[in-house]
Amino acid sequence: MSLSRIRVLQLRNLAEAQLEPSPRINIILGENGSGKTSLLEAIHLLGTARSFRSTKLKPIIQTGSTDCVVFGELLSQGMPHRLGVKRTIDGGGELKINGIHQRSAATLATTLPVQLITPDSFTLLTGGSKPRRQFIDWGVFHVEHQFLGCWRQYQSALKQRNHLLRHGKIDPSQLLVWNAELARNAEHIDQMRQSYFSLLAPVVRDLVDRFELGLEGEHLSLSYTRGWDAKTPFIDQLDQQVDRDSKLGFTQTGPHRADLSVRIGRDNAVERLSRGQQKLLVCALKLAQARLFRDHSPATNSVFLVDDLAAELDREHRTILCHELVALECQVFVTCIESDTLEGAWPTNAVRKMFHVKHGNIVELAQP
Ligand SMILES: Nc1ncnc2c1ncn2[C@@H]1O[C@H](COP(=O)(O)OP(=O)(O)OP(=O)(O)O)[C@@H](O)[C@H]1O
Ligand SMILES: [Mg+2]
Repeated sequence: MSLSRIRVLQLRNLAEAQLEPSPRINIILGENGSGKTSLLEAIHLLGTARSFRSTKLKPIIQTGSTDCVVFGELLSQGMPHRLGVKRTIDGGGELKINGIHQRSAATLATTLPVQLITPDSFTLLTGGSKPRRQFIDWGVFHVEHQFLGCWRQYQSALKQRNHLLRHGKIDPSQLLVWNAELARNAEHIDQMRQSYFSLLAPVVRDLVDRFELGLEGEHLSLSYTRGWDAKTPFIDQLDQQVDRDSKLGFTQTGPHRADLSVRIGRDNAVERLSRGQQKLLVCALKLAQARLFRDHSPATNSVFLVDDLAAELDREHRTILCHELVALECQVFVTCIESDTLEGAWPTNAVRKMFHVKHGNIVELAQP
């Protein structure tokens, strides 16, 4: 699956830009402030209806405009698809696939699965657990069709239980209903996450080896924690913790507290790794997901967005990363300030196109 045409209107400094990308490697060059990250943001919007730089829409929409629009044409599972995402300044918008209005961004995500690496991606390791849950759930969502429904039911029951905990006298019969609903979905979510994690961990370790992180023989280990005490069934735990939960006004344990941890020896990996090593570890995690997804759905594959690929990486590691991206056999968009930064980093036979961005205009360059 790859995008064959992209058209962007009124997104940041991209007033009206279009390109016909390569189905494989696309190198986006340009000076600071030219619009490179904005192009990746546009592709991300097409696959998720959201930006990765801002939770609000106003900063994304071009100053003076009330909406931004991204169109994409792609070939997916042998079929041509037209995607359209319009987002308005008031937070609304329209999502369309082949002209048909979509109620949820989930169908966009299934049609155009995007993987993203930016210079901020190290927060996957350093920040709170939410991005790590989102990371693992990206993988589970794309391989387990029941996951989204289950997760939505869990979230809705969690909201109801928390509402009950916060508002006065608790009706025990109502609490029983929500506990049962939570427990049923929690066990299922956990099973799906666990089986995905057991596939993911060895692929991450393989990529970490390829990336030559320089761990000097120290063992890198990944673990998944489900978010509640593994020895007690979740329904019993919910019963036992009612008093504590109602004092705090929310449910303290459950799949909404699941986490992923990466250790080197006994230490949390992030305490041991340099910024460049952290970036390589994040790349290993994301490439592992893309590789699993490719093996699971060869006809779909993911689109990889790598903003400022060269940042923090020496020439040797840039070359390894570029080779691994090519080996995925998916469509890749990488941004870079100067063309010589990635010269010689790609396999000589890699299919690629280069684009230059200047003041929001995108021009294809002659073949490298
Ligand atoms: N809402 C907006 N309306 C118009 N222009 C905007 C808006 N938001 C940001 N810009 C401008 O868009 C331009 C492109 O920004 P972008 O982040 O895409 O640049 P870039 O090419 O990735 O630069 P860098 O190499 O520094 O990362 C910048 O000049 C920025 O000031
Ligand atoms: Mg940028």
